Amino acid sequence: MNTKFYKKCDASELTEAAETLKNGGLVAIPTETVYGLAANAYNRDAVSKVFEAKGRPTDNPMIVHISKLEEIYPLVTDFPEKAKALAEAFWPGPLTMILPKSDLVPREVAPKLETVAVRMPSHPIARKIIELAGIPLAAPSANSSGSPSPTTAQHVLNDLDGKIDAIVDGGECDVGIESTVITLATEVPRLLRPGGITVDQLESVLGHVDVDPAVVSELEDGVAPASPGMKYKHYSPKAEVYIVEGSLESFKFLIDSEAQEGDMALCFNGEENDIPIPSLSFGDEDNLESQAHLLFAQLRKFDELKAKRVFVRAPSSDGVGLGVYNRLLRAAAFKVIKPTVIYGLTGQTGAGKSTVGQMLSEKGYLIVDGDVAARAVVEKGSPVLEELSEAFGSDILDRNGELIRSALAKKAFATEEARQKLNSITHPAVTKWSIDFIKENLNENHKGVVIDAAAIFDSDIQRYCTKMIVVTAPEEERLARILSRDGLSREAAMLRIKAQKDEQYYKERADILVRNFAPYDLSQELELL
Ligand code: TXA
Ligand code: MG
Repeated sequence: MNTKFYKKCDASELTEAAETLKNGGLVAIPTETVYGLAANAYNRDAVSKVFEAKGRPTDNPMIVHISKLEEIYPLVTDFPEKAKALAEAFWPGPLTMILPKSDLVPREVAPKLETVAVRMPSHPIARKIIELAGIPLAAPSANSSGSPSPTTAQHVLNDLDGKIDAIVDGGECDVGIESTVITLATEVPRLLRPGGITVDQLESVLGHVDVDPAVVSELEDGVAPASPGMKYKHYSPKAEVYIVEGSLESFKFLIDSEAQEGDMALCFNGEENDIPIPSLSFGDEDNLESQAHLLFAQLRKFDELKAKRVFVRAPSSDGVGLGVYNRLLRAAAFKVIKPTVIYGLTGQTGAGKSTVGQMLSEKGYLIVDGDVAARAVVEKGSPVLEELSEAFGSDILDRNGELIRSALAKKAFATEEARQKLNSITHPAVTKWSIDFIKENLNENHKGVVIDAAAIFDSDIQRYCTKMIVVTAPEEERLARILSRDGLSREAAMLRIKAQKDEQYYKERADILVRNFAPYDLSQELELL
């Protein structure tokens, strides 16, 4: 079959497309959500051909599209008040309602069901074609079954060229994911598929709406879904897709340690260059509409790029994000990676950071000791030591080429500029050492990682930390601890305390504050970790 491609979308082209539909042909049409593969909803043969062209399982029912409200009455046996209120609020638009089906709707449209799905799209071309055809149009998304829904005419052509009569090119779809599907055939209205109309919007009209468990969880074997479409793996590129929860930092950490040939990432705008494997972005992190708009187009690109595995930054599941998350879960066949939590652990001198580190180690965390790391990177003959002696003079080394710490400290803490120089040489090496240490030592029994480092807020290792734990104690208490521990004079101990940033500085940067002083109980302070 030669698939016609209508690009002008003028009256004569749309009339021709409508004629084809009336005569039982299949035409892909643009809607505001995704492209639909339309057929005359009253023509059994035409509807059957849709299943064939898409390779769609024949038990997966279709949505019937109308252009005027009165067109719903022949399709349903009941149009309850709640449905009317929804239509009033959201039609035309990306909302599909499931209602009791009339006998006029052929069984092929909704096999084995007593209900029918109806939607009034807002796209002007879709509306015009329905109007010109003068019949409701049954239309699933115009993709090969299982692949991401098409949001451009080119996507449709890639999937269905030669299998359908025509494609009407109406440009990029605005919403980008399929309509919200809600059933009003149950006691309490129930969301079956999230989309452009959000749960909040539905509840603003209906009051409470149930969310079907299949929206965000995998159905157990043998459980029949409320919406047959929800049981299929869907929206998927050829690559294995993994959703990765957590921050960009933990995402990068995962990629750093896991990446193989053929791995790619799907991330948010602006993150592409930060991620060390080829990456595509799907919108702004805080603009959920932009993510919905781009998601399917980007998923399709991974096929062109021959990706083997795709790691996806998990989107927010608020508002329209629920629709995006729902599609990604299916693209990933529910493979969600929760990356290792990495805590930074710090505090002023004498606050009891090491004690806390010890307790967290007993709780099952892998502890990275910042002092050990700092010493390891300046071992005799190390590149860092070489750089330091170039920067600060070879008299920081003794005759054997070992670092004389006091000599380095004297020079490096003389001016702010010198201190920064020291940090710029040592910190990247300490970070790399720590990451390598984690990779070598972390196993599945660990609860997470704790990086114990006094100067963590100064260091670039903090970008790997999901959260910062700050241990606090009053100054008097800290002084007493230093005195009994380090055998310093009171003056020397005070100097050490005053050389550090004040308590406020630490508190402002803390995600978790641990109070290590009476009357608080340290194990209780750490209870949630
Ligand atoms: O935005 C959309 O809804 C697009 C455009 C073309 O309108 N259409 C679309 O159709 O996404 P399709 O067939 O890809 O998805 C329809 C979904 C399927 O998950 C199907 O199982 C469900 O709606 N559905 C259809 N009729 C149903 C019914 N009577 N009861 C429960 N679920 C139904
Ligand atoms: Mg579909």
